[in-house]
Amino acid sequence: MPRVLITRRLPPPAAERLVQAGLTVDLVDQDDPPPRAVLLERARGCAALITMLSERVDAELLDAAGSPLRVVANYAVGYNNIDLDACRVRGVRVTNTPGVLTEATADLTWALLLAAARRVVEGDRLMRTGTWSGWQPQQLLGLELHGAVLGLVGAGRIGAAVARRAAGFGMRILYTDPQPRAELDGPLRAQRVPLSELLPQVDVLSLHVPLTPQTRHLIGARELAQLKPTALLINTARGPVIDERALVAALRAGRLAAAGLDVYEEEPRLAPGLAELPNVVLLPHLGSATVTTRQRMSAMVADNVLGVLDGREPPNAVV
Ligand code: GLV
Ligand code: GLV
Repeated sequence: MPRVLITRRLPPPAAERLVQAGLTVDLVDQDDPPPRAVLLERARGCAALITMLSERVDAELLDAAGSPLRVVANYAVGYNNIDLDACRVRGVRVTNTPGVLTEATADLTWALLLAAARRVVEGDRLMRTGTWSGWQPQQLLGLELHGAVLGLVGAGRIGAAVARRAAGFGMRILYTDPQPRAELDGPLRAQRVPLSELLPQVDVLSLHVPLTPQTRHLIGARELAQLKPTALLINTARGPVIDERALVAALRAGRLAAAGLDVYEEEPRLAPGLAELPNVVLLPHLGSATVTTRQRMSAMVADNVLGVLDGREPPNAVV
């Protein structure tokens, strides 16, 4: 009976569906990331690995699984944690979970955007600490979104979903993307411009690119310096797209008004000084974290595994 390793407790129906299909499921029955040694040990002899974005899938792990391994089904849309070439040369298929998490991630982007723009967390802190002395004409003034300019770096599925929401807030939309996106250009009257033109114009910069060698530190000290000092930076993509230390320096120096972050360069650690800044909103990588989306992702990883093991083309092949 082919064995499937699921590296974490998942919402239904992945495990149930795989068992029903007659596979042996080995579940790492915990919420926290398993130690590397546990992964290497438990992977041995598996035909499929269902992996999380926090797990490095490299030659070492693939070889630990050995020749029975046929598919790595990542429980995420991003797959920067996977060495695709190492999979290719071993004939191991790779799948992800696109589409089902687009709206949830766009919602969370807006949660951060609104929280940073209107200083929600600073206000909450003021109330909880019992230091609010009453209404003031100039207390915690934020950014007015109506008429402000939203700059999207990356206008794929998630970037476009963020743009659709922006229209409701009366924002003007600029985006940078390797290709024109008709969905944005037409109904949303968005404008595609190069990054260097986008940066100085935006009131809010939001990142929606995958992490690749080309996007690593795409937003560094130089790019941050091109933003208006009143601008906000939102990141629900991948941490390393921003040079996090440069971001801390820019926020500290007042060269940027605020940031809303869901992802970090070295999760779960934060760059030194980041958590001490009052003008950042920090979330623990919750982009896809709704009940509905996480269940859809669960169904998707199971279908991808079953596709490959049944000798069919999996629905969401990356490799
Ligand atoms: C989450 O970050 C994902 O890539 O699904
Ligand atoms: C991710 O799925 C994206 O295309 O934005």
